[in-house]
Amino acid sequence: MKQMFLPSLLAADLGNLAFEIRRAEAAGVDAMHIDVMDGVFVPNISYGPAAVALCRKVAPALPRNVHLMLEDPARHVEAFAKAGATTILVHAESRCDVGATLRRIRALGCRAGLVLNPDTPVSSALERLAECDEILRMTVYPGFGGQKFIGRAVEGLGAIRAAAPELVVMVDGGITDETAPIAAAAGANAFVAGSYLFGAPSFEEALRRLKESCAPKGTEP
Ligand code: DX5
Ligand code: ZN
Repeated sequence: MKQMFLPSLLAADLGNLAFEIRRAEAAGVDAMHIDVMDGVFVPNISYGPAAVALCRKVAPALPRNVHLMLEDPARHVEAFAKAGATTILVHAESRCDVGATLRRIRALGCRAGLVLNPDTPVSSALERLAECDEILRMTVYPGFGGQKFIGRAVEGLGAIRAAAPELVVMVDGGITDETAPIAAAAGANAFVAGSYLFGAPSFEEALRRLKESCAPKGTEP
């Protein structure tokens, strides 16, 4: 199954976002991961639909993977769809009708994703697989970049992979060339990395190392 690599915009230089988006695209990422935080569902506040619109403007061909860490994401999915989201991901733990919100995201013409916090049982996603195009397993507690990978969070991803072989199974938080292979072995095929990529002396070189670290044995990334 195709592997995908997504930089998290949260770790990019806020003063040079357009430059950061362009250099990520030039390095060969598959989509931009945009973390949206409301200061309620998570303690931090980031940005809103304008950041998605900026990505669309400066890199129209680069898909926009929008991770909503919002108490009530249902109120905002339309604004993010209008701003140019390709995929909209909502948390299973948020305070809204999650099934209805996933269906609404698809009705708006976007791909729908379900996010699970590290302590939410992976099995709870099994009943929702038909409503999702992507599952995102948090491998840190959401809210901040630069945290340490929680290894036990990837246990159980194999059950999702087995139940839906074509589904995008993504991991987010503490992803490096040391932790990505652990997640890949557990069943993940998409990897979000913030500080590892944007914090590296060379984004391009870090992306190459990340791809190499989890390429299936005997294949070239
Ligand atoms: C955490 C965010 C992540 C985070 C990843 O709430 O969802 O996308 O920015 O950053 P790193 O890769 O630095 O852990
Ligand atoms: Zn994220």
